[in-house]
Amino acid sequence: MDHFYRDSWVEINLDHVEYNIKQLAAHIGEDKGIYAVVKANAYGHGYAQVAQAALNAGASALAVAFLDEALHLRKAGIQAAILVLGATRPKDAAIAADHDISLTFYRKDWLEAVRAEQFRKPLQLHMKLDTGMGRLGFRTVDDIRSVLPLLDTPSLILEGVYTHFATADEADLSYFERQRSKFDELFKVLREEWPDPVIVHTENSAASMRFAADESDFVRFGIGMYGLYPSKTVKEEHPIALRQAFSLHSRLVHVKQLEAHEAVSYGATYETDKPEWIGTLPIGYADGWIRKMQGFEVLVDGKRMPIVGRVCMDQCMVKLDKAYPVGTEVVLIGSQLDAFISVDEVADWVDTINYEIPCLIGARMPRVYKRSGQIVETDNALNPGESL
Ligand SMILES: Cc1ncc(COP(=O)(O)O)c(C=O)c1O
Repeated sequence: MDHFYRDSWVEINLDHVEYNIKQLAAHIGEDKGIYAVVKANAYGHGYAQVAQAALNAGASALAVAFLDEALHLRKAGIQAAILVLGATRPKDAAIAADHDISLTFYRKDWLEAVRAEQFRKPLQLHMKLDTGMGRLGFRTVDDIRSVLPLLDTPSLILEGVYTHFATADEADLSYFERQRSKFDELFKVLREEWPDPVIVHTENSAASMRFAADESDFVRFGIGMYGLYPSKTVKEEHPIALRQAFSLHSRLVHVKQLEAHEAVSYGATYETDKPEWIGTLPIGYADGWIRKMQGFEVLVDGKRMPIVGRVCMDQCMVKLDKAYPVGTEVVLIGSQLDAFISVDEVADWVDTINYEIPCLIGARMPRVYKRSGQIVETDNALNPGESL
């Protein structure tokens, strides 16, 4: 088991990841497969651990943004199908083929360049259609007609076709419906002009939770797998129950009483008005616990206590209701006794979306993986491997 030498850590509840996958699988039915979206270190939760938990729970494949992420999963021993959703350089396509990693394509010149590469194994490709996201994808019927002949070569296999929705999590579904119609129009041409079957996947978490009747073969399940709803609208609709997998923990490393009118941290922005107990936590903005967290609360002894003074690069201070021993556990995200701080609440405080919060908690922060309340693995990116 890896070790870490610092009193701040992330905990990932793998039972919750599995629960969320099972909830979605039951909701969408057996006919549809699930791509577990594990890009960006599984939204900050940990690539291999989440990927394995998702596969255990019934996901059939994985999706990442970049080829490096897919190769990382292969090195970790993951053998399931992996799709790269983002851009890959044509000269790197052969590496993907060697490792049975499927790539996305969305430009004709990319296909032309890839056809000129040498492959030991055929390369599996997914055609991305831009139906209104305005990011990557072919946009017209003519685009599709002009690229299909380039796929007619033994080194390339058209495995899938997909699109991505921009507003599937919103209350107003008019733009979503327009994207769907556009997809139907483009896909019809593909179906008419391409003889082989291809797998279709259009739905992200929001669309898969809300519109399970869609005809696609796979859904791409990201934020919901981590136990977070893609928007307040979807959270209120509550199409399925989800359990937050991510929590953030620390310990008091210093506790002291300040006199009245003493200041805390850079800029001396916080001043005590009477004698106060101040605790120091070894976590700061370099860990993704950003400066905007000043004024937010953490849990100590199951009670909310405010973060006072500016958040430093590696530390921050909290105002305590009494003296607590050094080593007392503090929960920054998650539950402690009967209290709970959700990822959503943190996102609201810093005026962003829940997706961003676990992604912000960087590689310096060790990850601890739990099942049935027990630690099953720890991951310290700074000092991987066995104890020193
Ligand atoms: C192409 C694509 N598919 C699926 C997802 C997963 O979306 P969500 O996390 O909302 O389920 C993403 C995430 O950004 C994406 O870019």
